[in-house]
Amino acid sequence: MAETDTKIFLSEKEMPQKWFNIAPHLTNPPAPPLHPGTGQPVGPDDLAPIFPMALIGQEMCPDEWVEIPDDIRRILALWRPSPLVRAHRLEAALGTPARIYFKNESVSPAGSHKPNTAVAQAYYNKEAGIEKLITETGAGQWGSALAFACNLFGLKCEVYMVKVSYHQKPYRRTLMHTWGADVYASPTDRTECGRQILAQDPECKGSLGIAISEAVEVAAKDEIAKYSLGSVLNHVLLHQTIVGLEAQKQFEIAGDSPDILIGCTGGGSNFAGFVFPFIPEKLKGKDCRLIAVEPTACPSLTRGKYAYDFGDTSKLTPLVKMFTLGHTFMPAGIHAGGLRYHGMAPLVSQLQSEGVIESVAFAQTAVFDAAMTFARSEGIIPAPETAHAIKAAIDEAMKCKETGEEKCIAFNFSGHGHFDLAAYDSYLSGEMVDYAHPDEALCRSLADLPQVSD
Ligand SMILES: Cc1ncc(COP(=O)(O)O)c(C=O)c1O
Repeated sequence: MAETDTKIFLSEKEMPQKWFNIAPHLTNPPAPPLHPGTGQPVGPDDLAPIFPMALIGQEMCPDEWVEIPDDIRRILALWRPSPLVRAHRLEAALGTPARIYFKNESVSPAGSHKPNTAVAQAYYNKEAGIEKLITETGAGQWGSALAFACNLFGLKCEVYMVKVSYHQKPYRRTLMHTWGADVYASPTDRTECGRQILAQDPECKGSLGIAISEAVEVAAKDEIAKYSLGSVLNHVLLHQTIVGLEAQKQFEIAGDSPDILIGCTGGGSNFAGFVFPFIPEKLKGKDCRLIAVEPTACPSLTRGKYAYDFGDTSKLTPLVKMFTLGHTFMPAGIHAGGLRYHGMAPLVSQLQSEGVIESVAFAQTAVFDAAMTFARSEGIIPAPETAHAIKAAIDEAMKCKETGEEKCIAFNFSGHGHFDLAAYDSYLSGEMVDYAHPDEALCRSLADLPQVSD
């Protein structure tokens, strides 16, 4: 690749044929998920009411590599392999000696990395004879990805969308409707947990934790339906590793190698998908920093506790060991709706606790400053979630400017912001505000953590 080239493409034939599983590389075995009633490790049968066996198998998979079925690869080929882009213009705008790359996952039909797992999950559910998938969505990126995938496999799709985003992002709703999904503003009066929450607070703006409770409750009661989650779980992170595996091949073509890899973290899937394939080399001694970026308004990795907690607000899910702010934590209504989750993927959490990855948190106006710098140099308008990764990449590139170091910095461009223009409006009009949770608020939600001896 010439120094002035911008995009590194792979052919469809070069798309990875296997997903990469980090589990066998971990120093310590992952802490098992626990049954919410008995406190005992869950087995496949406990998960069977909400997931098909193939996905449960991947959730507990001990193997390093998992074959990607051809039917999935053929659909992913609608937009994959995605380009790795050298951000020459951003480098020039910053005046940095650093080389900056981004993996452009915004080229998928739904506009983010989320379809990488949505297609896989729809495929395995269809194979198991399921007729309908039920899920939650924050900003609407995951809901639209699953609506897109279900439509391709002839599955029905029902989405519980966090109420604040339902109103902030009406066009994401339209995307889901276009692909044939039914969408409800959560909390709803359709479920027991939704009704309970509305009885306590009729004005509740919702949260991912509540929307998950609603979706799980409905799926568990419906014979022909299963639940589908867009992040956090091992099988979701596994499906996203196609991103990092492609990036590795693209760096080889570029004749370059990243010193710093960056991803934003909501539940952890785009970060994990991008960085996990690079971890074995790091564990063997390669000097490469892996940075997870989150909002100060929902700081699970930077201010949370590494403990067993529920994945949802109504305590329906298994208990998982993760960095958490507590399942009753209610994040402020920041524009990066996809980063408003109280917990973090157990695999990402374990790597943070073992010091393999690091994390940083930013307030949303600083994040939008970075988004503007990116949009005005590289042209693409990032999703607010993605802009967190851009902010970290710019900060690292500016450190290189100070020291003169020519580091190679790469981040996952997890999605575009074409449906987030109301957020840009609020930034451009000077109305955007920052949120940082006082220690007392965090102490309150952390006090609700379940008592588990581990
Ligand atoms: C564009 C984008 N990036 C990142 C995220 C965060 O999710 P995860 O941490 O699972 O990648 C979301 C979630 O909705 C998203 O829409």
